[in-house]
Amino acid sequence: MKLAIVEGDGIGKEVIPAAVRVLDALEMDVEKVYLELGYGKWEKTGSAITDQDIEILKSCDCILFGAVTTPPDPNYKSVLLTIRKELDMYANIRPIKPLPCVDCNFEREDFNFVIVRENTEGLYSAIEEIGEDASYTKRIVTRKGSKRIAEYACKLAKSRKNELTIVHKSNVMKSDKLFLDVCRETASEHEVEYSDELVDSMAYKLMVSPEKFDVIVTTNLFGDILSDMSGALVGGLGLLPSANIGTEHAFFEPVHGSAPDIAGEGIANPIAAILSLKMLLEWHGDIMQAGLVEEALESSLNMGVTTPDLGGSFTTEEVTEAIVEHIEIKIRNGSS
Ligand code: NAD
Ligand code: IPM
Ligand code: MN
Repeated sequence: MKLAIVEGDGIGKEVIPAAVRVLDALEMDVEKVYLELGYGKWEKTGSAITDQDIEILKSCDCILFGAVTTPPDPNYKSVLLTIRKELDMYANIRPIKPLPCVDCNFEREDFNFVIVRENTEGLYSAIEEIGEDASYTKRIVTRKGSKRIAEYACKLAKSRKNELTIVHKSNVMKSDKLFLDVCRETASEHEVEYSDELVDSMAYKLMVSPEKFDVIVTTNLFGDILSDMSGALVGGLGLLPSANIGTEHAFFEPVHGSAPDIAGEGIANPIAAILSLKMLLEWHGDIMQAGLVEEALESSLNMGVTTPDLGGSFTTEEVTEAIVEHIEIKIRNGSS
């Protein structure tokens, strides 16, 4: 595997080395290609990502990405949006399920759903007019863009409970009527059972009865917001991984950002990054290794080795070492 590795900014520089440490423990044949991207690079060079970086990313099989700081500066070109667009990674997959021994804010532990977020259109068009007295962002919904994300969500639903929830706001934004219609049509074609929800009411329902949902398909910004909100269901943002999937490329990253409030303290939870590595391994077909990562991670949680966000007093490195140790023992014993 030729793997591009981007640590990025803030805690990206802590959680990606943790995930790479886990990858190394798996003793796989991986060619690592490190790239520096993000706000730090922008401050040094005036550019957060260059055309050459994009070519290097395209030349790799997949990408493991930490987090970048994105300032609200109109001259700053967002690294994430650039990569998603340039590599046409249209599906952002965000699985939400509880982990063992993590005290959630919610008692129920019976939920397991996936947010399938359209990743290239909607309010992330980057077509904007910024003025002194008025600013505009164009919201784009196309049949093609809606169709391909609906197809992805339906295929995923077929491999799970065959249930799809389409989340939109077509009562107010008529652009969402096209998204809703295409998703409904696609679900019918695939014989997937579907229903739809307005995003505001969906936010409430996800918080009070998450077990009622399986595969959720939605537009870009709604998927962004609902996924961070779902972090509260599982016990924190430090636990949620994601995959950005396109026709030719894929990149894997935690849902969380660069967390400047805790960066540099060595206490960032590495689990979201390590679960992102697990998704990468699954995508690449390394199922046994992915299973081993999950088992090792669960074992560290069962032993109570957790960072402060989960109520523990362990550092990022200590949590990582506990996971790595479990993998090393399994590999030594040949029982993986
Ligand atoms: P954030 O996700 O970085 O942090 C939100 C809160 O969650 C903070 O209190 C933080 O300490 C906590 N948190 C996040 N990840 C954690 C972890 N692994 N362990 C323990 N606690 C964790 O969101 P923010 O503060 O709104 O954004 C900071 C910067 O990150 C912004 O510039 C934003 O644009 C950027 N961002 C980047 C990405 C990405 O690169 N994928 C995603 C989201 C935000
Ligand atoms: C995410 C992030 C990004 C997004 C930002 C940093 C551009 O919040 O991956 O969820 O909004 O998609
Ligand atoms: Mn987000």
